[in-house]
Amino acid sequence: MPRRKPSQLTILDRNGERGERPIGKRERSLDFGERWSYAPAPEAHSYIRLRDRYQLFIGGKFVAPKSGEYFDSVNPATEEKLTEISSANEKDVDLAVKAARRAYKNIWSKMPGRERGKYLFRIARLIQEKARELAVLETMDGGKTIKESRDIDLPLVAAHFFYYAGWADKLHHAFPGQKMRPLGVAGQIIPWNFPLLMAAWKLAPALACGNTCVLKPAETTSVTALHLAEILQEAELPDGVVNIVTGTGETGSALVTHPDVDKIAFTGSTEVGKRIAMALAGTKKKLTLELGGKAANIIFDDAPVEQAVEGIIAGIYFNQGHVCCAGSRLLVQESVFRQVIRKLRDRISTLRLGNPLDKNTDIGAINSRAQLDKICELVDSGLKQGAQLVQSRAHLPAKGYWYPPSFFTGVTASHRIAQEEIFGPVLSVMTFRTPEEAIARANNTRYGMSAGVWTDKGSKIFKIVHQLRAGVVWANTYNKFDPSSPFGGYKESGFGREGGRHGLLPYLSLR
Ligand code: NAI
Ligand code: MG
Repeated sequence: MPRRKPSQLTILDRNGERGERPIGKRERSLDFGERWSYAPAPEAHSYIRLRDRYQLFIGGKFVAPKSGEYFDSVNPATEEKLTEISSANEKDVDLAVKAARRAYKNIWSKMPGRERGKYLFRIARLIQEKARELAVLETMDGGKTIKESRDIDLPLVAAHFFYYAGWADKLHHAFPGQKMRPLGVAGQIIPWNFPLLMAAWKLAPALACGNTCVLKPAETTSVTALHLAEILQEAELPDGVVNIVTGTGETGSALVTHPDVDKIAFTGSTEVGKRIAMALAGTKKKLTLELGGKAANIIFDDAPVEQAVEGIIAGIYFNQGHVCCAGSRLLVQESVFRQVIRKLRDRISTLRLGNPLDKNTDIGAINSRAQLDKICELVDSGLKQGAQLVQSRAHLPAKGYWYPPSFFTGVTASHRIAQEEIFGPVLSVMTFRTPEEAIARANNTRYGMSAGVWTDKGSKIFKIVHQLRAGVVWANTYNKFDPSSPFGGYKESGFGREGGRHGLLPYLSLR
């Protein structure tokens, strides 16, 4: 098949307007689409029943917000309004916290662990039963591909509930010889990149330990949390054990500052995390933060390059790069630089971008216009600071928020694209000569969420891993998750661990 000669580069400006401009001397753009074409394979969604309006979930019931206000949730792949979501104000948050407190005092903290565990098992099984519907909703509301929501998010959501169901009656084995009690009411604020999975990461361990919860989903992706609320009803979870308040940062802030909340768990931006830490300083509330990242993937010259490039691709383009542990920096040993870049370039030209509900789609929609603006602004800064952009020529749909998979070469450590979290499908490639230089470069960031190491030598893996200041380090793989494995950051990526036995600690008081 003839290949179009790439001559134009797709550039997205701050308003998300797409423009084409000739490729500069030092830029490369990739032709795509003609090499591989697939028949459409859209996931059915006509059976999905979205409500016209979603109410708050307080005390086991769906209730209208006292604020009387609602906001739209849109499908970022089409810009179509999907539904309306309640905007909870301080009064609503107060009602939710009161319901959680009542449930804590009267029921949940008194219930034996084995009984709490049964509820969690029941929730896990119901999630499995409704997994396909939830995956479609997640994709429609958030823009991630159905491939990911169906094969990664939903299985992990169920797995988290199963895993922590198992701990509920074994807490004394988790921390032998120690007396323990739950903390009380947990306020949990989550982001839009893994809406249901983040809800599961927060709710499952908190409930297993005997706490009750008030969950605040992100404003662009509240729908699946409210469908989870229906599952909680179906599981006959006692009223008030889990409450869900939707709204913007103001709702989150009302939850953080509510005097009767014992613990705040937050996942989101470092900026908001810092604000929450300041608001809680000097109070008795416990806090865990899971914030941004700027992970380095390090490829040594003895790495299996094909496999490494697949891992790099998965590490940065997975979920459109909306991942705090995304491998957004690539450090390549100089001797294999050309080889890696060639393969990377070939590979991104075959990634399929478009309808997230199509089972063949690799790259879905950017979650919101605001996030697209942020990506465009940072890519712009990279170009202005002199880095060279390589971008897939993937056709971008006319409607919706899209960004083609891209990478920068010629990046220096001081460039903003090497330091700031892009949270989009944009990789910054740098080189190194010695392992010492690789470690220094990888650690040269204010973040410390995760990292990746690619080498044929086990001894090198262990040597390097111990010197990386990152909470999670993957070796010869990337972005692999399991409920039994703890996750969390160093430095400005936050503190506290979620997942595994460690994930119980933030929800218990030990003596
Ligand atoms: P954000 O930090 O503003 O939002 C995360 C959650 O916090 C949402 O539920 C939001 O409503 C809530 N929130 C916002 N302000 C709050 C406040 N003052 N008090 C309490 N809760 C508050 O993140 P945003 O604006 O959606 O994304 C901005 C950037 O943050 C992204 O570009 C990305 O770099 C980073 N981010 C990191 C995530 C991670 O997984 N670590 C997830 C989402 C965003
Ligand atoms: Mg939405």
